[in-house]
Amino acid sequence: MADTSKTATLTFEDKSIELPIHSPTAGPDVIDIRKLYAQGDVFTYDPGFTSTAACESTITFIDGEKGELLHRGYPIDQLAAKSHYLEVCYLLLYGELPTAEQLETFEHTITHHTMLHEQMQYFFRGFRRDAHPMAVMVGVVGAMAAFYHDSTDISDPYQREVASHRLIAKMPTIAAWAYKYSIGQPFVYPRNDLTYAENFLHMCFAVPAAEYKVDPILSRAMDRIFTLHADHEQNASTSTVRLASSSGANPFACIAAGIACLWGPAHGGANQACLEMLKEIGTPDRIPEFIARAKDKDDPFRLMGFGHRVYKNFDPRATVMKQSADEVLDLLGVENNPILATAKELETQALADPYFAEKKLFPNVDFYSGIILEAMGFPTSMFTPIFALSRTVGWVSQWKEQLADPTMRIGRPRQLYTGAPFRDYVEVENR
Ligand code: CMC
Repeated sequence: MADTSKTATLTFEDKSIELPIHSPTAGPDVIDIRKLYAQGDVFTYDPGFTSTAACESTITFIDGEKGELLHRGYPIDQLAAKSHYLEVCYLLLYGELPTAEQLETFEHTITHHTMLHEQMQYFFRGFRRDAHPMAVMVGVVGAMAAFYHDSTDISDPYQREVASHRLIAKMPTIAAWAYKYSIGQPFVYPRNDLTYAENFLHMCFAVPAAEYKVDPILSRAMDRIFTLHADHEQNASTSTVRLASSSGANPFACIAAGIACLWGPAHGGANQACLEMLKEIGTPDRIPEFIARAKDKDDPFRLMGFGHRVYKNFDPRATVMKQSADEVLDLLGVENNPILATAKELETQALADPYFAEKKLFPNVDFYSGIILEAMGFPTSMFTPIFALSRTVGWVSQWKEQLADPTMRIGRPRQLYTGAPFRDYVEVENR
């Protein structure tokens, strides 16, 4: 537990309660209210957890004012420039950058867990052909508990390790097969001679009838998308994984819960929603109309891909993603694509508008990742599954950390009840 040399005093009615303050290695101090109910007979109220730390963690740190994102202390821009996804996975899972030998072993392990149990194909085939790939992923990942019984005992560290490797390794295969199924093409099996990102592109875009060569610029961009989404501390889906895990649920059930949460348009679904919004806008001349709608209090419309709960100056992932977008668009020569022209103009106009500046709304990672994925040829329905496969390592790392935490208890929020007080049941004939 972090350092506790300071205290805060909470005074109300005739009570005065002393509460310990924990000083973290970075970020604001945290007032420990665990004994508040026992000592003061009160709860705290914080819907949306805007001021509540739900756990202690050593994995990821975000400074929203500075626009800083650190994994195990290393800044995301350095990791995106110098590292690669599987090395970042190792860092998140084990806490330190691997030696060359550790990295080689880890890459070998992940590569050799990428195949799915052959019977899992029947799961895919049971879905309607037009099912959203996220629906398929929630179902198939949850169903892994039925296929991999030897890695569901969370009290066994070896089984936890195997489950972690299986989830990270098989997620690209699951996402790619969800895509192949939706377009009626045969499933493409993983290949051990390809990197993690190359393998995913191969499983998505290869067909048995022709040779498919992965372009190194595209596989680098894909790897960056994975790296930039790898973890993001206690966001909604990660908190969902932790809450599900706090009941002792098996790892596949916990990660399926995270995927389900990620799907929402305010979270991982924003990349799909952003591209759909750009298509709806259609041409740059219609941008002022949509900006006006986003500013109108009576209109629920929001500019998708803008804003963030924690980042209030810029999203450091978006800075790297924007560079990647430029590289990919250059390579593919798609500067004249009307969606991309609309995206560029929307970014310029929104950033120049005082409403967005005052509310500290900037393009987030999903604004640019959608543009890259569109240019690469992915349909919008695959954007969120790609986010899910990238975030799996973050969910798994946080899940493992929570299971090893001796202070871990079942997550059980309290409430501010404003419903009817006690009343006696009234027989139907007397109502
Ligand atoms: N367009 C227009 N206005 C906005 C937007 C937006 N995208 N985002 C926030 N606002 C306004 C909002 O109306 C509110 O105004 P007021 O103070 O007058 O009521 C103010 O800004 C603060 O917004 P909030 O909803 O209280 O902020 P939040 O922290 O609860 O929500 C958010 C953060 C990301 C859900 C929100 O900005 C949003 O809905 N953005 C669009 C969806 C999106 O791009 N999500 C992806 C986030 S990055 C990927 C990830 O981590 O999952």
